[in-house]
Amino acid sequence: MSDQPVQVVILAAGQGKRMHSNLPKVLHPIAGKALAQHVIDTARGLAPQKLILVYGHGGEVVRSTLAAVDISWAEQARQLGTGHAVAQAVPQFSKAPCTLVLYGDVPLISAATLRRLLHAGRDGLAVLTVELPDATGYGRIVRDAAGKVLRIVEEKDATAEEKSIREINTGIMAIPTAHLVDWLGRLKNDNAQGEYYLTDIVALAVAAGIPVRTAHPEAAWEVLGVNSKVQLAELERVYQRNIAERLLVAGVRLADPARIDVRGELTHGRDVAIDVGCVFEGSVELGDAVEIGPYCVLKDVKIAAGTRIAAFCHFEEAVIGPDGVIGPFARLRPGAELGPEVHIGNFVEVKKSKVGAQSKANHLAYIGDAEIGQRVNIGAGTIICNYDGAFKHKTLIEDDVFIGSDTQLVAPVTVGRGATLGAGTTLTKDAPPGALTVSRAKQVTLTGWVRPQKVKK
Ligand code: UD1
Ligand code: CA
Repeated sequence: MSDQPVQVVILAAGQGKRMHSNLPKVLHPIAGKALAQHVIDTARGLAPQKLILVYGHGGEVVRSTLAAVDISWAEQARQLGTGHAVAQAVPQFSKAPCTLVLYGDVPLISAATLRRLLHAGRDGLAVLTVELPDATGYGRIVRDAAGKVLRIVEEKDATAEEKSIREINTGIMAIPTAHLVDWLGRLKNDNAQGEYYLTDIVALAVAAGIPVRTAHPEAAWEVLGVNSKVQLAELERVYQRNIAERLLVAGVRLADPARIDVRGELTHGRDVAIDVGCVFEGSVELGDAVEIGPYCVLKDVKIAAGTRIAAFCHFEEAVIGPDGVIGPFARLRPGAELGPEVHIGNFVEVKKSKVGAQSKANHLAYIGDAEIGQRVNIGAGTIICNYDGAFKHKTLIEDDVFIGSDTQLVAPVTVGRGATLGAGTTLTKDAPPGALTVSRAKQVTLTGWVRPQKVKK
């Protein structure tokens, strides 16, 4: 396909009253990303010469949230219709011969569909249309007996006969730019809603002898808009179902494709298995044969091949080596880096720390700002006291160290290679290598001691 250069105008001035929210409609998220951001990202895939966003009253937050170097902004202070909205973008127009109009609240439109629409509009005007069993509320595509498009009529202006037409205008159009500028200047608002309808340009094109063609989306959900939280939730499920299908087709085993949420990018090797209720955010990489147990939340995480994650883990900005065994109930915070075959068990929190190969912390521990060598055993209840109330300090634990249960390491402190810390130790000075260090009150037994007793009245 040899298509002409294009510029994109995204209409995003709508208030979205039915969202019942202080957040402008186009900033509500699907898969953790603003509706309009989905549209912007798809539009970028077409390499547009210009990307113009039309934002509305109170839309400063839209502008600041979506700001990017390649976006130009046009304010539509009062919403006088879709034609008026596009007209606000005219001063920003580039020389691109084709202008693609998108809606900021129609987030799932695909680049493939848009390419087909642009192709249909290569020598004229192209409208993206679908046939709906119930077309109520939409603009209808009026054709002549030969099937040639004549015009679009809005629901509120339509005759009973026109209302029976099931082919509707999705609102997405590819328009020859030079004509568009002319047509916008000729729009009138003498219609049922007193608005400047962009849709009126279709009749103007027909009158000028410009070819008007239609194209259709690959899937109907691509052109669904968001006007309410109900529709937002519906589109979220469509989006997630599509991702789940893609993962299954690529060989990932999902316990239930209806119970996974990907809010970002999930990349994976072969034979990866994901149990129910997991949420993936940001960029997550799962190596070959990685298994994720139920109800885990992973954000910006890399997990190397063969590692198994048990239920109810929470990881953020962590790197996990191969063949590890993590969880259940493990928490990895930013800067956690685990080597090969590391075991992290229940209620263990690791922050900004490196843990060497084959080291284990299986129960109830806090590891913060530490560097831990290989084959280290961290006993239950071990706390690294990394914070003195003002500053964070580092702890170094060398290879083959054994740390007994209920130990506190008051940073900065170093535990030498092969050292053992006795249970209950509060380590405030470095522990030498190879030796047992213990800080513990001597155990005494007082014979003849009697437990106090209540006297019965
Ligand atoms: C419009 C179309 C209709 C089509 C329908 C598809 C017109 C006149 N009608 O209907 O044929 O079937 O979309 O959903 O074009 N917007 C602005 N400024 C405005 C008005 C709208 O930015 O002054 C934006 C909205 O935020 C929204 C989009 O344009 O993203 C469509 O507006 P909406 O009011 O939903 O569409 P309708 O006019 O009902
Ligand atoms: Ca609408």
